[in-house]
Amino acid sequence: MDTIVPSYLEEYLRSLLPQRDELLASLEKEAADTNTYAPIIEPEVAQLLRTLVMLKKPKRILELGTSIGYSAIVMAQYMDEDGELITVERYSNAASRAGENIKKAHLENIIKVVEEEAVTALSWLDGCFDMIFLDAAKGQYSEFLPYCLKLLKPGGIIVSDDVLYKGEVTDAIDTEKRKVTIVKRMNEYLKLISGLDGLTTSVLPIGNGVAISVKE
Ligand SMILES: C[S@@+](CC[C@H](N)C(=O)[O-])C[C@H]1O[C@@H](n2cnc3c(N)ncnc32)[C@H](O)[C@@H]1O
Repeated sequence: MDTIVPSYLEEYLRSLLPQRDELLASLEKEAADTNTYAPIIEPEVAQLLRTLVMLKKPKRILELGTSIGYSAIVMAQYMDEDGELITVERYSNAASRAGENIKKAHLENIIKVVEEEAVTALSWLDGCFDMIFLDAAKGQYSEFLPYCLKLLKPGGIIVSDDVLYKGEVTDAIDTEKRKVTIVKRMNEYLKLISGLDGLTTSVLPIGNGVAISVKE
């Protein structure tokens, strides 16, 4: 997905990022290759996740939307060895590619890939999570939210990716007809998390927009 940040600024922000290890660099290359379907977060969003994991020191993380495992690996690399990261992916091809990459990263003790529809997994997952990363089914974030709030510890954070949807959540950018519903739902989600009692949200215009919501 193109980002909302002007390319000169995006290039500059990326020039400030630390060098990625060989595996992450190869996954970024794979994602950039238009012949392979491997959508992943932008490197500057990955750096935000690292920063949040360092700040929060989560014992348990839930991720919706695994793809090839890039963001799960990014977060797990900064977790303690006894931490747990559960990541949910509905496509078996992506789930198994993620499994291979997680093994290459030697993080299979921390990361568990659940191959399932996000809402199905949310209905049976239990226990408490310190951090939840929403990066699947962009039109369903509002549907995921009640489950996430139940699973999230007080003080826990929900990080929602792609919330500005190339700027299309504003009136300034036209939306393709086939994306009108998804953009409308994202708009509703942003209003929901921005106004909900017990949740404090900040929306950052990096990547395609990232919302960080803290449960009181
Ligand atoms: C943007 S990608 C995730 C990228 C990943 N977080 C990363 O940065 O490495 C979204 C993923 O969510 C999966 N997905 C979409 N809708 C889903 C749903 N309803 N339940 C589970 N997974 C879903 C897609 O198959 C895709 O692999």
